[in-house]
Amino acid sequence: MSDKIRTMIPEDELDKRIRELGEKISKDYEGREVFLVCILKGASFFACELAKRISVPVMIDFMATSSYGSGTVSTGNVKVVKELDLDPSGKDVLIVEDIIDSGHTLNFLNGYFKDKNAASVKLCTMLDKPDRREVDVKVDYTGFTIPDEFVVGYGLDFDQRYRNLPFIGVVENEG
Ligand code: IMP
Ligand code: MG
Repeated sequence: MSDKIRTMIPEDELDKRIRELGEKISKDYEGREVFLVCILKGASFFACELAKRISVPVMIDFMATSSYGSGTVSTGNVKVVKELDLDPSGKDVLIVEDIIDSGHTLNFLNGYFKDKNAASVKLCTMLDKPDRREVDVKVDYTGFTIPDEFVVGYGLDFDQRYRNLPFIGVVENEG
């Protein structure tokens, strides 16, 4: 069984955009250290590529949230399912997400890091689907703004598959 995948953003465009974001972040955080928080699992591919393009000192940690179950519709009920190892208090936190859809996850994370007394909290997302927004969130860095289609690849999954694709694609089901 194999689905047909249509390419939406090819690998070389992702690469180029991630370099640009890395340069911008390096300028904005000049003289400081960035505490990158990668939201598992989806953001892991993007976060690693981005971290390599940041020239100021970087600490990196990982956490996981859930709001979806196995479906494709956000419930708005976000939970932390894996905590950070490091303490974010006093740190300049940059949350790295794969995609912003309803905005519930990032809205929750913003509050979470403020409660933990981070010195600052900014958000960086590889993809943004603004058409689907249910809560307003301020995004500081966006890779690509995309139309309302369910995408896979570069860390994003459909029922845990396709994360390893080196590009962003759309699953085209037959019939
Ligand atoms: P939000 O809380 O609705 O903004 O959802 C964000 C999370 O939903 C992302 O971190 C993804 O894990 C997942 N998600 C949203 N849209 C897509 C998609 O098109 N493909 C794969 N995962 C998605
Ligand atoms: Mg995610």
